[in-house]
Amino acid sequence: MRIVLLGPPGAGKGTQASKLSEEFHIPKVATGDMLRAEVSGGSDLGRRAQEYMRRGELVPDDIIIRMIEARLSEEDCRRGFILDGFPRNIAQARALEGIVTIDLVIHIDVDEEEVVERFTGRLACRQCQAVYHRRFNPPLHEGVCDACGGELYQRVDDREEVVRQRFRTYREATQPLIEFYRSRAILERVDGSGTIEEVAAHIREVLASRGLVTSAG
Ligand code: AP5
Repeated sequence: MRIVLLGPPGAGKGTQASKLSEEFHIPKVATGDMLRAEVSGGSDLGRRAQEYMRRGELVPDDIIIRMIEARLSEEDCRRGFILDGFPRNIAQARALEGIVTIDLVIHIDVDEEEVVERFTGRLACRQCQAVYHRRFNPPLHEGVCDACGGELYQRVDDREEVVRQRFRTYREATQPLIEFYRSRAILERVDGSGTIEEVAAHIREVLASRGLVTSAG
């Protein structure tokens, strides 16, 4: 199962990728998480990426494509993977075609105004990158990750003006991928405006309809 989750900021890509990863025992490969790990580790790559991320712009393709090529060649990706946040423009999508064949692209569709509230309450784990929400998906103990006990924090790019820029970047660079993948007949749209469990159920139905899982149950 080689899946891409596509959608605007806050669509729930990370949340749904984690659920799929747990259910199907295949890795979630999230370029945003990988970049944040490089930033907090203080690597050269992290230092280069940081300025773009702070502004809500795309990190240059050469950095991202090299990073993803290395990650997808690792042993645990052989059985499949869920890509979250990659590809983000046509150049990245073409590069991905040269690396691996994708089975399905799931477009999680949400309205910008509807999801703005998701950013103000979002919390992420410094250690394992698990994602929570103060209201919609709270951790069991305040400030502590359920999965690994790590510290929860608020992302620096979740300030409203940066969120607006991330939406602009999405519309200009990433949205054209919807047509790109539709023309290859591997695109499915899922309404991302329901609850986390409702969206997960829709994704499960789409996977079943494409024969990637045995039933929608
Ligand atoms: P990245 O980390 O990929 O950010 P993003 O695409 O903007 O997506 P988000 O992580 O904000 O949202 P999500 O869809 O994953 O939603 P989530 O599940 O967290 O990228 C960050 C930056 O890195 C980019 O701006 C760029 O600079 C750089 N970058 C990354 N990849 C790149 C690439 N390929 N090329 C170039 N640059 C790249 O959910 C959001 C919140 O809502 C959470 O709190 C969650 O609990 C909650 N929630 C989720 N679903 C629901 C629901 N159905 N109902 C209510 N709440 C929900």
